[in-house]
Amino acid sequence: MKIWLVGTYGAVATTTMVGAKALENGVIDPTGIVSEMPEFEEIHERIPLEFQFGGHEVRWIDSNAYRAALNHWKLNRHFDYGILESVKNDLEEIRAEKGTAINCGPGVESLGELSTLEKEGYTLREIVDILREDMSSFGKRDCVVINVASTEPVVEFREEYHGSLEGFESMIDENRKRYVSASMLYAYSALKEGIPYGNFTPSTGSNIPALKELAIKNRVPHAGNDGKTGETLIKTTLAPLFLYRNLSIDGWMSYNILGDDDGKVLSHAENKESKVISKDSVLEKTLGYSPYSICEINMFPSLIDNKIAFDFIHFKGFMGTKMKFYFIWDGIDAILAAPLVIDIARFLLYARDRGEYGVIEELGFFFKSPMDTEIVNTHQQFEMLKTWFTQKPITRGISTAGVFIPKV
Ligand SMILES: NC(=O)c1ccc[n+]([C@@H]2O[C@H](COP(=O)([O-])OP(=O)(O)OC[C@H]3O[C@@H](n4cnc5c(N)ncnc54)[C@H](O)[C@@H]3O)[C@@H](O)[C@H]2O)c1
Repeated sequence: MKIWLVGTYGAVATTTMVGAKALENGVIDPTGIVSEMPEFEEIHERIPLEFQFGGHEVRWIDSNAYRAALNHWKLNRHFDYGILESVKNDLEEIRAEKGTAINCGPGVESLGELSTLEKEGYTLREIVDILREDMSSFGKRDCVVINVASTEPVVEFREEYHGSLEGFESMIDENRKRYVSASMLYAYSALKEGIPYGNFTPSTGSNIPALKELAIKNRVPHAGNDGKTGETLIKTTLAPLFLYRNLSIDGWMSYNILGDDDGKVLSHAENKESKVISKDSVLEKTLGYSPYSICEINMFPSLIDNKIAFDFIHFKGFMGTKMKFYFIWDGIDAILAAPLVIDIARFLLYARDRGEYGVIEELGFFFKSPMDTEIVNTHQQFEMLKTWFTQKPITRGISTAGVFIPKV
């Protein structure tokens, strides 16, 4: 598997690379990797756990994956140091290429001095050409791009630029920067090169009609958005319990605190908006109604990569009697995310192997805001994933600009 990580030197990316290489070298076991379960046996030989990594970054551009991983490790100590040392040689060889941070907002700017292609004066078309060249020279066959870069602010949807591939490409050719974001440019570059694309972040990525059209046209699978690793995973697993027992939820409060660079970026209101939208919509989708809901995310520096969620659920039972349920989820973000990144990459390669393209909705199991499906109930999602895996490749199509493009 050749995995191109956008945001190569971040906590999730470096933890993914350390874990993947340690798995490949037999240093750790596959606990946490869904695709290693017996249900998915066919993938084990077809797409073995052997890895090459590359990616794009906008800071520490002269560094390498080992130095970046060590930086995160010193802050978090989120796994055994011996594991990191065992993959030192592998990671020292991984160096990121310079990327773009167009419209990534104040959160990303606050990370420090950024090295970007736009700072070198390139136009949108030139930036895209460079991104495409970087990705395709890494490898088209067995290659997949996964976005694990910092969360961008929400981009206002504009039909003329995002509604069709033609509009999107004219926006690029005319160098109109206002309605484009870095994640769209990475997604466009991957899909244009025929490389599957997975979006682990709440940023827009390939989630606009223009890029869905491109994926169908170029016959490339893609999936997103926003890895479901913590509080939302628990929420979408627990909420069905109330549904199945016909208990009515009056209110659900979720309060999340986290440190680290992800927390720093999300402490900026514009960058946070994408995340809150992504987390907050799941209750209505699971329950079919919207209980009163508070969903907060705040920076708590000393926690570093520890993310804690405090949840309070007020619900009503027989004869209108009110009851309460509280939980605290205390997770290590990158440790929960890294195996999912590997799974998403592996299942996307599997989809491509089977000749499937377009949005692979069944990978919604891995995401908080799964594209093109309203199903967020974890139990249902897992069944969908298993069914998809064992059945024949699915015919998909999209409706774009009034034209339905079927799979032939
Ligand atoms: N459990 C989880 O950790 C989890 C779950 C769901 C989603 N996510 C998302 O995954 C992403 C990564 O999280 P993290 O904890 O690794 O954050 P991080 O801040 O440690 O890493 C992000 C990296 O992306 C780089 N970056 C920022 N903008 C970029 C751009 N435009 N192009 C290339 N690189 C860019 C940064 O320099 C940084 O190295 C975030 O968007 C986060 O919201 C994480």
